[in-house]
Amino acid sequence: MKFFLDTAEIDQIRHYAASGLVDGVTTNPSLIAKNGGDFIATIKEIAGIIPGPVSAECLATDAETMEKEGRYLAGLAENITVKVPLTVDGLRVCKALSDDGIMVNVTLCFSAAQALLAAKAGAAFISPFVGRLDDLGESGMSLIASIRTIYDQYAFDTEILVASVRNSLHVVEAAELGADVATMPPKVLAQLYKHPLTDKGLADFLADWDSTGKARSIV
Ligand code: E4P
Repeated sequence: MKFFLDTAEIDQIRHYAASGLVDGVTTNPSLIAKNGGDFIATIKEIAGIIPGPVSAECLATDAETMEKEGRYLAGLAENITVKVPLTVDGLRVCKALSDDGIMVNVTLCFSAAQALLAAKAGAAFISPFVGRLDDLGESGMSLIASIRTIYDQYAFDTEILVASVRNSLHVVEAAELGADVATMPPKVLAQLYKHPLTDKGLADFLADWDSTGKARSIV
């Protein structure tokens, strides 16, 4: 399973890139606005830090302008994935760009029917938003299971990129269901490392060592 960071915060991306666990980055207009930097400069900088796919989202909603934006974004770096919304115009652009070999991430997916359309439009990634469905009292993970079944049934190679991830359980459940990618805020990636018994076990091991009076040094 691939891990993407869902952020436009350069410091965080640099920090977690050093872990060797970050396979890509997703951004959206809200994340870039929150970060405060210039849109294009931010995308280029991220694409220079992480060699894997970096999703940059179009701002236009009409197909003609969206396609122009998509082609421009794709030209910024080889690892840019153009992100388009799951709308009639967005899927039209997805098909046009995908036919030209440009990777497209179709975002704001909330149903299996939408995911089926995105795969037929040649999307490299489909982004179902599990957290926002959970917020409504629906099951985000049921959607992931349904998309997995449909994509496997027809051998679609669109990757399921689980988005709107809010906690480590979302990541684990997505992995159990065979999702291809989870994109997560840095704080969720940090959560994945944590277990209180790990912290306690390590403290106990070191306390036992310290009780010997010897230095904590091997090399
Ligand atoms: C995915 O690409 C989106 O940027 C993101 O996961 C949205 O998550 P949110 O529901 O926490 O805003």
